[in-house]
Amino acid sequence: MPDDTLTITDNRTGQKYTVPIENGTIRAMNLRQIKTRPEDFGLMTYDPAFMNTASCRSSITYIDGERGILRYRGYPIEVLAERCTFLEVAYLLLFGELPTEPELKSWVHDITHHTMLHESTKKFMEGFRYDGHPMGMFVSTVAALSTVYPDARHVHDPASRLLQIKRLIGKVPSIAAMSYRHNMEFPYVYPDNDLSYAENFMNMLWKMVEPKYVAQPAIARALDILFILHADHEQNCGTNAMRSVSSAQTDPYLSMASAAAALAGPLHGGANEEVLKMLDEIGSKDKVPAYIKKVKDGGVKLMGFGHRIYKNYDPRAKIIKWTAEQVFEVTGRNPKLEIALELERIALEDEYFVKRKLYPNVDFYSGIMYQAMGFRPEMFTVLFAIPRTAGWLAQWQELITDPEQKIARPRQIYTGHEEREFVAMGKRTATAVPAR
Ligand code: ACO
Repeated sequence: MPDDTLTITDNRTGQKYTVPIENGTIRAMNLRQIKTRPEDFGLMTYDPAFMNTASCRSSITYIDGERGILRYRGYPIEVLAERCTFLEVAYLLLFGELPTEPELKSWVHDITHHTMLHESTKKFMEGFRYDGHPMGMFVSTVAALSTVYPDARHVHDPASRLLQIKRLIGKVPSIAAMSYRHNMEFPYVYPDNDLSYAENFMNMLWKMVEPKYVAQPAIARALDILFILHADHEQNCGTNAMRSVSSAQTDPYLSMASAAAALAGPLHGGANEEVLKMLDEIGSKDKVPAYIKKVKDGGVKLMGFGHRIYKNYDPRAKIIKWTAEQVFEVTGRNPKLEIALELERIALEDEYFVKRKLYPNVDFYSGIMYQAMGFRPEMFTVLFAIPRTAGWLAQWQELITDPEQKIARPRQIYTGHEEREFVAMGKRTATAVPAR
């Protein structure tokens, strides 16, 4: 019977230590006993960018990056995308099980009745510059909700947590739609409680003078599928920000603003916007080989390709490619699809990409579809943030109720000066500040 332990020999002292292995992991704190002298701090691990560190136990999302598998609470993403609505999946992520019919009815009712924003929040949004980036508006407005709901600071009260969860999931489409209308200098549209989550979002985006907005069903379903695919993705950069900030018992509005801010970065959720810029820059299918050469020469990255976890085709990208075809039947084919398909074809055969296991990720095809639906690239990351709200909140709940969790506070390896003498003003030499 193999022993689930690890024996470490410290060659500095010849001392041997045995530490338990649990779930393929050793506890970093078990290394602290490894010292050369009693007054030593003890051994630490150094892991910039968390390349090999588990920060939590989680039962929400499972990813096998080598095999291209993604499951929420054990259910394959492909099945959920085909058989569920986004709000059903949000319920699953948050509460661990798929809802029964009455549970779903009541959940949908509650979310629908939390879609309104206070007029003060609307006024707050009116203060943004007309051309402000919607993601900046989204992040700031989510943070501003903290001032509207001061009760949200009771993070250990389950009833308060549930209320904030419903408010956030209900309100993020309204904030997203207002950021879009603000950019367009169109009047804001209030939510319509008769419509589904995706349809109501479309109503708040695109309703003009018609008395009642009627959503195109194929587009509404495609949006809902996209929402399902983006709902959670375990400990990514944004979710790590959510967990890290809320570990200080910060309220969920402020914590979620930090998570959305992380998502806005071009290496994370901001990549979908970058993919469109890249396709514009390439311009036509025949220019693809030259662009691939530029990528291989290290000049640029192929946006929408590569992933920290997936070393195989991102399963979400496959579903998006299929969903895009359904959308194009309604909207007509986005001419950029030709360039994207050619990029993918060449990249998947090219040794540079094969060797590094670089495959299309979730952002590669989503932007092309969003553009066909009529969204400007600036809106793409906001479309990602709406469903990710469910995942961030599920991860937040899990963190708050996990007795092993404490305030997140990494260590560092200090590389600065030892203590030194203070230098009086007249004796200082000029600092070499890098040229601007
Ligand atoms: N194009 C070209 N080369 C790439 C790309 C890319 N998109 N991604 C990674 N590589 C190369 C790196 O240069 C590196 O090559 P090297 O070994 O010769 O130095 C190798 O592949 C490994 O890449 P890392 O940067 O070490 O991988 P990491 O896990 O740190 O980065 C990331 C993952 C940030 C997603 C990266 O692949 C990337 O920048 N992709 C483009 C941006 C993007 O699409 N982001 C969205 C990710 S999905 C999401 O967050 C929602």
